[in-house]
Amino acid sequence: MTILDGKKVSNDIKDEIKQQVDKMKAKGEKVPHLAAVIVGNDGASLTYVGSKVRACERVGFESTMVRMSNTTSEIELLDKIEELNQDDNIDGFIIQLPLPPQINTQKVLMAVDPSKDVDGFHPENFGKMALDMSTFIPATPFGILELIDRYGVETQGKHTVVIGRSHIVGRPMSILMGRKGFPGNSTVTLTHSRTKNITQITSQADIIISALGVPNFLKAEMVKDDVVIIDVGITRVPDESSPKGYIITGDVDFENVSKKASYITPVPGGVGPMTIAMLLKNTLLAREQRM
Ligand code: GUN
Repeated sequence: MTILDGKKVSNDIKDEIKQQVDKMKAKGEKVPHLAAVIVGNDGASLTYVGSKVRACERVGFESTMVRMSNTTSEIELLDKIEELNQDDNIDGFIIQLPLPPQINTQKVLMAVDPSKDVDGFHPENFGKMALDMSTFIPATPFGILELIDRYGVETQGKHTVVIGRSHIVGRPMSILMGRKGFPGNSTVTLTHSRTKNITQITSQADIIISALGVPNFLKAEMVKDDVVIIDVGITRVPDESSPKGYIITGDVDFENVSKKASYITPVPGGVGPMTIAMLLKNTLLAREQRM
């Protein structure tokens, strides 16, 4: 069994990005600048955005965190987005999700200039991704592809089962694994909350990508020997013995499933750090495309 070490690989990617930024600086070029907009005070979202900003510092990017109150109206957020669209200094930006209920998420994501949409959530970019055109691939799916690529995990002709149909992970992942090329050329089954008898499906899978958000959902009895496991779950489970009062738990019963797996991502330290590295990669791409 091989651990797909997202922490290590993401650090390698950040080192590679930093080298490119150092070259840009040496030539007197502007370095990439990422902005992150966060509306409200959700603890997990603040942690993620904080990690994104720290990662920018690590590779030499400029970064801006835009904090807006929980009572921000849709118009106020749309105005802020227009300001970021127009700001020549900003190469790419993200709107951290989820947004408070008074704001229509689709309307907001449609307002982002596709050339600055480093999350790859705008329909123009999502459509390009589905049509194999070059574009910003959403950071978590992009990170999973990169892990598969760097470990040389075979995907061609394999049965890939994706659990969860979110717009951020499950849906794009199901498209990407079925695309022509590597990673890809998989036969994909997209399962979700209305899927019947999921064990019958997961037990036939060569590769399982779980993005459900239900701690320890996937058990050893649900998978076959030598399965490849990508665990995208990151649920905070209350735990009084931990200093933070919670532990981050994946969708997969790691202790037992890892005994049957050929490759498996840990939680934490698997897909999570890859997401941040690939957001940086998209921001570097955005800068290069603006030169
Ligand atoms: N919320 C959960 N994941 C993500 C992500 O990748 N990008 C943004 N903007 N919000 C998220």
